Amino acid sequence: MKTILVTGSAGLIGSEVCGFFHCQGYEVHGVDNNQRAVFFGPQGDTRWNLARLQKEMHHYVHHELDIRDRQGILDFLATLRPAVIVHTAAQPSHDRAAAIPFDDFDTNAVGTLNILEAARRACPESPFIHMSTNKVYGDLPNTIGLKELPTRWDYDDPSFANGIPESFSIDQSKHSLFGASKVAGDVMVQEYGRYFGMPTCCLRGGCLTGPNHTGVELHGFLSYLIKCNLEGREYKIFGYKGKQVRDNIHSEDVARFMFAFVQKPRVAEVYNLGGGKDNSCSIHEAFAMVEKLTGKKQVSVYVDQPRSGDHICYYSDLRKMKTHYPNWDITISLPQIVEEIVLAQHTR
Ligand SMILES: NC(=O)c1ccc[n+]([C@@H]2O[C@H](COP(=O)([O-])OP(=O)(O)OC[C@H]3O[C@@H](n4cnc5c(N)ncnc54)[C@H](O)[C@@H]3O)[C@@H](O)[C@H]2O)c1
Repeated sequence: MKTILVTGSAGLIGSEVCGFFHCQGYEVHGVDNNQRAVFFGPQGDTRWNLARLQKEMHHYVHHELDIRDRQGILDFLATLRPAVIVHTAAQPSHDRAAAIPFDDFDTNAVGTLNILEAARRACPESPFIHMSTNKVYGDLPNTIGLKELPTRWDYDDPSFANGIPESFSIDQSKHSLFGASKVAGDVMVQEYGRYFGMPTCCLRGGCLTGPNHTGVELHGFLSYLIKCNLEGREYKIFGYKGKQVRDNIHSEDVARFMFAFVQKPRVAEVYNLGGGKDNSCSIHEAFAMVEKLTGKKQVSVYVDQPRSGDHICYYSDLRKMKTHYPNWDITISLPQIVEEIVLAQHTR
């Protein structure tokens, strides 16, 4: 039986990847120490999701390891020597990082290096997939000319009609400390590909979402917005008139891309992975979609101050990945995503 190592296995993406590869016949080894509960408090606790994995999968083995534990990670990979590595463990919040800069960098940059070097020593031929983020582009997307439409912002420059491509600069802009620690991890993953020839891949995520997200105010846009709607809780809109645009991709479409990459790995690749323009929405458009489904009015308050370094409009140009992997495409539409999250939160 082939083995896959998934770091951050109790998180949104990690848990989806575990389930997906398990269905493809893999023995799944998950690493997660529930650090999300440390980063975000009890609302971020992912134990419910770990319990679900352990219940639903016969071939899931959990390892309560911290990716910052260098020797622990080196020893673990030397023993396991997995056929595939998917690295999703992270401090994932743009805003949270400023309060915990050492934890953020130690996790996102140094933790990534620990796993990369352990992989190089133990199984350099195994595909290594890293979850990066669109925040590596910092706030440079905000310098593209924009037009204001009734419910959203959009690019007013035809060269970005399909969204932001991978060739966009990651340099000389405001990233947030989170964006900077993710740049370090992203560049290091590319380097292990280019320098050592390892089959590495960075996926620069837009808004990744799905029913298994433990959404909190500082991370998990749609999941948290829907939670607020269902509980009648106030949702804070930070600046840009609530017309800021995010592209949303279901975690299952993320896992399907990873599987496609593993079937046909490449070296040192970088892809922007989001929902693309078709799966994009502004905050106001998300409110409208959710209200229509739940019949509940979204309670919100407008704060006239955008989050520092936040994108006004961002959607991914998916053409590079579709060219390299023509059998892959988005299969879950935005309305379907919203419906699934509403249903899951109703029943959780
Ligand atoms: N969700 C998004 O919208 C989004 C967008 C772009 C990029 N990403 C990236 O995708 C990846 C996964 O995001 P997610 O939404 O699944 O996050 P998540 O917080 O749901 O999952 C991450 C998991 O990693 C675990 N973890 C954190 N630090 C750890 C450590 N030191 N040792 C072991 N486990 C640790 C957490 O407990 C958590 O379960 C991250 O790299 C994130 O930056 C996410």
